[in-house]
Amino acid sequence: MLAKVRGRSSSPPDNPHRLKGMRVLITAGPTREFFDPVRFLSNPSTGKMGYALAEAAFRSGASVTLVSGPVALKSPPGVRVVPVVTALEMRKAVLREFSRSQIVIMTAAVSDFRPKTYSTHKVKKKNARLTFALVPNPDILQEIGTRKKPGQILTGFAAETRSLLKNARKKMDAKNLDYIVVNRVGSTRSGFAGDRNSAWILSRRGMAKKFPDMSKKKMAALILKEIRHRR
Ligand code: PMT
Repeated sequence: MLAKVRGRSSSPPDNPHRLKGMRVLITAGPTREFFDPVRFLSNPSTGKMGYALAEAAFRSGASVTLVSGPVALKSPPGVRVVPVVTALEMRKAVLREFSRSQIVIMTAAVSDFRPKTYSTHKVKKKNARLTFALVPNPDILQEIGTRKKPGQILTGFAAETRSLLKNARKKMDAKNLDYIVVNRVGSTRSGFAGDRNSAWILSRRGMAKKFPDMSKKKMAALILKEIRHRR
């Protein structure tokens, strides 16, 4: 009985060469925004979701570039990794790769702000002002959304704590995306850091599909499948 249910609900095996000849650009991990040589503003992203996507895209035959913030993961075999640290470095690397990529998937948790000033020496406790001025970082995804050419497929991620679908649709419109994957953050069961995730994928054409709790690797394969079907 169990085997029957499993057989019915599992997806058919994916064609491993469906992305053959395509260039895929993926971002992953956090950015770090330093205010002195030893301290920074960042977030809990580990890169697991983005690395799983890069691995899955390579296995589907794509030529994959992964622009990665600082993470503790091994480079996926066959994938070209471009390491970056700050949001400004990530922007530069993404803009360099964007025009020759057919599929772009931005899973990176880019810091929306950076400290206004940087001290080249470690700020001493006794000199520290305890209020920091921040300035906004550029929104990389929004910027490439304005440069998108016909034939390019742009997918963003949305990290939300509430009104997931409503906020994701707003981001998809504002950033001119074809797809958005929205996951809840601030819970241990999805989003940052774990090996598992649950999310929704939405398309510009109105498709909405729930991905219940599953490994990030499995979710990566399902995301690519949706993108390839272009619904
Ligand atoms: O790395 P893991 O530990 O596996 O965690 C995975 C994840 C939680 C980081 C991932 O699933 C996720 O949700 N990534 C998006 C994180 C995020 O920054 O979401 P956002 O809603 O703030 O941004 C929306 C989109 O704009 C994202 O595609 C982001 O890459 C992009 N963005 C955001 C800000 C900015 N300045 N530039 C951007 O390009």
